[in-house]
Amino acid sequence: MELDVNYVRAQFPAFEAEETKDWAFFENAGGSYVPATVIDRLQQFFVEHKVQPYSFSGLSKKAGEEMDESYVAIAELLNAREDQITIGPSTTLNFYVLAQSLRHLLKVGDEIIVTNQDHEANIGCWRRLSEHGIIIREWRVGKADAELDLNDLETLINEKTKIVCCTLCSNLVATFNDMKSITEMAHRVGALVVADGVSYAPHVIPDVQSWDVDFYAYSTYKTFGTHQGVLWGSSDALKKTEGQGHYFNEEKSRYRLNPSGPQHAQIGALAGITQYFDNLYRHHFGDSDIGIHQKAVKVFDLVEAHEANLANHLLDYLKNRNDIRILGQDHASPGKRASTIAFHARGMPSQHIAQKLAEHQIAAGAGDFYALRCVESLGMDPEDGVVRVSLVQYNTTDEVKKLIQALDSILP
Ligand SMILES: Cc1ncc(COP(=O)(O)O)c(C=O)c1O
Repeated sequence: MELDVNYVRAQFPAFEAEETKDWAFFENAGGSYVPATVIDRLQQFFVEHKVQPYSFSGLSKKAGEEMDESYVAIAELLNAREDQITIGPSTTLNFYVLAQSLRHLLKVGDEIIVTNQDHEANIGCWRRLSEHGIIIREWRVGKADAELDLNDLETLINEKTKIVCCTLCSNLVATFNDMKSITEMAHRVGALVVADGVSYAPHVIPDVQSWDVDFYAYSTYKTFGTHQGVLWGSSDALKKTEGQGHYFNEEKSRYRLNPSGPQHAQIGALAGITQYFDNLYRHHFGDSDIGIHQKAVKVFDLVEAHEANLANHLLDYLKNRNDIRILGQDHASPGKRASTIAFHARGMPSQHIAQKLAEHQIAAGAGDFYALRCVESLGMDPEDGVVRVSLVQYNTTDEVKKLIQALDSILP
């Protein structure tokens, strides 16, 4: 069975709106479009119960119920427990707070491993801890292939290592890093593992119970929802954190690692993401009593195959040109590589290419995408960066063909 892309697209009002309908939208790794199920919930919250939730009025109770539905929905989606989840304003902020919450475990001379492949969100907040005498070790990408080599990690890990921070999938290189092996190596010396799933979550539904990582984070505005970040921690790992919110909220799982407090309407809308996945499941597989995690996993089997097809279409074009350097693997297969394709053209600045694509009503990005250390380590001009085309479930073969045609006319 194949993903019915027409049905997928019909769930997103952006594909019908006058301003957006003619655009091929490939900047999904920067933030995806949002289905009607999410928009409706957001609108309903603002129109019908934009009041302080969890109070006595019917309006307030309804607002609280909508937020509760979303916490449950996100927890079920990840196969997690609700008290293992924090929904904060962004992954960057969630990681910052997490770093502060683990600081008390660290003493002078202890070590943290960060990569130079990650987005800065999972680097900078850990590097700041060096102000307290913590030593930061950098796990570096290979200069030729941009990949992280487990042998290099082996040389960095030792009994002083307390935390290993690594992306599941870089927002530029897009290889799915071997988090199982990384976690085994870290746990052998008792270190915690912090996995950034922001570029992974749009493509794969994880089962956090079956993983061994200690913390996992992703951003809902890149996975068809409102602008929020989800931080999951295993129950054991969460016990090691110090609350960063008000002292009287120390025991409240939704608040202790979210000093900004929950953003009511944005959270209330998140159950619209699982409603959307549920609709996709019903359309492709019919009615069923299985839970939303299993439904989403089945739907994403179709999504992954669809995305790999799209990615290979573009990768095949790019790798047949001798003026293009593709970051990461030049072939996509489910489970190995996300359909986020970053490339650099020898004869033309990335910024220029993205600008020219926009003239063809093709939205792609150019720059370092806050993976500046990665761009620099690969010897690219950090001011110019790479062109990034990120494909998700609603993109089509026709859109990719349009992109290839446009690239053919733009590239020298
Ligand atoms: C891989 C990766 N990690 C982390 C982040 C930061 O997420 P947020 O914007 O929610 O802070 C991004 C954002 O682009 C990202 O691509």
